Amino acid sequence: MKKFLTMMALALGGTSLTLHAAELTPNIEAAKGKVAMCIGCHGIPDYRTAFPEVYHVPRIGGQNAKYIENALNEYKKGDRKFQSMHAIAATLSDQDIVDIAAYYAAQSASTPVNPQK
Ligand code: HEC
Repeated sequence: MKKFLTMMALALGGTSLTLHAAELTPNIEAAKGKVAMCIGCHGIPDYRTAFPEVYHVPRIGGQNAKYIENALNEYKKGDRKFQSMHAIAATLSDQDIVDIAAYYAAQSASTPVNPQK
């Protein structure tokens, strides 16, 4: 029975991923409580406490929301390989990913660019 349920969950999970993506409404406000764990690496200009020089990380502020969503889903699934990003993406729900993608996409090109990036 347990195995059956697991199989069902996997089957449903597989299909709902694509369905959900279209249904989820990004919530930028909600993302503000979720990006704390990204800031340490993907420093946002407004958050000067970040230490981007420790890592060579891509700048994601101002990036296209769909691109960020895809990247996070790929890290989550392991299609894109990078250990720390996989570990982080694995903790994010579909809704988290949509929210965070919208949050970063909303960073404008005029946002002062952190010179370390
Ligand atoms: C431990 C440091 C670290 C943390 C924390 C971190 N990232 Fe990353 N992230 C990286 C690195 C390094 C890369 C580049 C990995 C690679 O080469 O694939 C990356 C890549 C990415 C990319 C792909 C960018 C591109 O241009 O392809 C996205 C999107 C991203 N991170 C989003 C996030 C989000 C959202 C969070 C918070 C939920 C987060 N990251 C937290 C280090 C981090």
